[in-house]
Amino acid sequence: MTRAAVISGLGGWLPPRVVTNDDLPAELDTSDRWIRTRTGIARRHFAARGSATSDLAVEAGRRALASFGEPNVDAVVLATTTPDRTCPGTAPEVATRLGLEDAAAFDVNAACAGFLYGLACATGLITTGVADRVLLIGAETYSSILDPLDRGTAPIFGDGAGAVVLRAGAPDEPGAIGPIDLGSDGTGAELIRADGGGSRQRLAEGRERDGEHYLTMAGREVFKHAVVRMAASCQTVLERAAVGVADIDRLVAHQANIRIVRQLADELGIERDRVVTNIDRVGNTAAASVPLALLHGVADGTLRPGQRTLLTAFGAGLTWGSTLLTWPDLVLRD
Ligand code: COA
Repeated sequence: MTRAAVISGLGGWLPPRVVTNDDLPAELDTSDRWIRTRTGIARRHFAARGSATSDLAVEAGRRALASFGEPNVDAVVLATTTPDRTCPGTAPEVATRLGLEDAAAFDVNAACAGFLYGLACATGLITTGVADRVLLIGAETYSSILDPLDRGTAPIFGDGAGAVVLRAGAPDEPGAIGPIDLGSDGTGAELIRADGGGSRQRLAEGRERDGEHYLTMAGREVFKHAVVRMAASCQTVLERAAVGVADIDRLVAHQANIRIVRQLADELGIERDRVVTNIDRVGNTAAASVPLALLHGVADGTLRPGQRTLLTAFGAGLTWGSTLLTWPDLVLRD
C-alpha cells in the first residue's frame, strides 16, 4: 500500500511581548489606521532580547508532540530564515532540547514558503521509509533582522513558531498530505533580502551596527508576485488532485497581508468565509505563518475536522509552495 505522511499533532507558541501598532516607534510616521487598512495587522509578538529562534521552536515543538501524544520522532525539520547562527543549523539543538536523542535534524530556508518546503521534506522522509515520524517546526525571530525605523517592514513582521507532527499512514486518511507543488524564481532574489553576514557581504567587526543585516523589501512588487505565484501553485495542486475549487472548504494561505490573502481567494474563486486568517494578531511570521494560522483556525473553530483544506505560501527567493489535505481531528495541548 502507498505510504503517506499524515498530520497527527499541532502546536505553536508566541513570545509573550505583544506590540500593538500604537506601540511602534513614532519615528516610523505611520498609524494604526494605515497598518490595519493596508495590511490587516493590529498587533504582533516580538521575542525578548536574548531569546532566539530555537527557544520559540522548542516551545512549539513541545506542544505539537503533546498534541501527537507520543514523545518520540525520527526526524526534526526546522523551517526558518532566522536561525540562531550561521553554523551549525538550529534543528539539532532543538531536537536535543526536546529530548529527541539521535533524531535526524536539519534546517530548511525557503523564507515564508519554508513550512511548505518543510512539509515536502517531511513527506519525502516518510514516504521513502527514512522516517516514520517527523516533527516539522516553522519558527522565526524576524525582530532580530528588522530595521525598527523602516516603515515598509517594521509593522509587517512578527515572531512566533508553529509545528506539526507527521506520521506514516494511508493516503485516504484525514491529515494525509496530498500533492505538493513547489517552485522558485531567483530573478526576484533582490526583492526581499538581508545581505549582511552572508558570504557575499561579510560583516566586519562592529559593522552590524550599520544595519547591514536588516531585511529590505520592495513591498509593492512582492505583493503582485505573491498573488500570482500562490494562485498558480494552488491551481497546480488542484489539478494534480483532480479537485475543483468548489470542493475546497478552507484556504490557509501565508499571512503576509490580508489584502494578498483576499486577492488570492478572489483569484481562485474562494469566498471570504472559507478563508482562515490570524494576521490581525500575529503579523507576518514567515515560516511560522501557516502552522500558526492552522493552530488559531482550530482554536477559534474556523478550521474543523473533515474540511478539505488548501495550504499555500510565498516568500523571499522567490519561493512558493502549496498542498491539499483533509483536516484531521487533533487534540491541542498547552
Ligand atoms: N505607514 C504609512 N504610510 C506608509 C507605510 C506605513 N507603514 N508604508 C508605506 N507607506 C506609504 C508610502 O510611503 C507610499 O506613500 P506615497 O504614495 O506618498 O509615496 C504609500 O504608503 C504607498 O506605499 P506602498 O509601498 O505602495 O504601499 P503598499 O500598499 O504596497 O503597502 C506593504 C506596503 C509592505 C504593506 C505591501 O506592499 C505588502 O504587504 N507587500 C507584500 C509584503 C509581503 O508579502 N511580504 C512578504 C512576502 S513573504
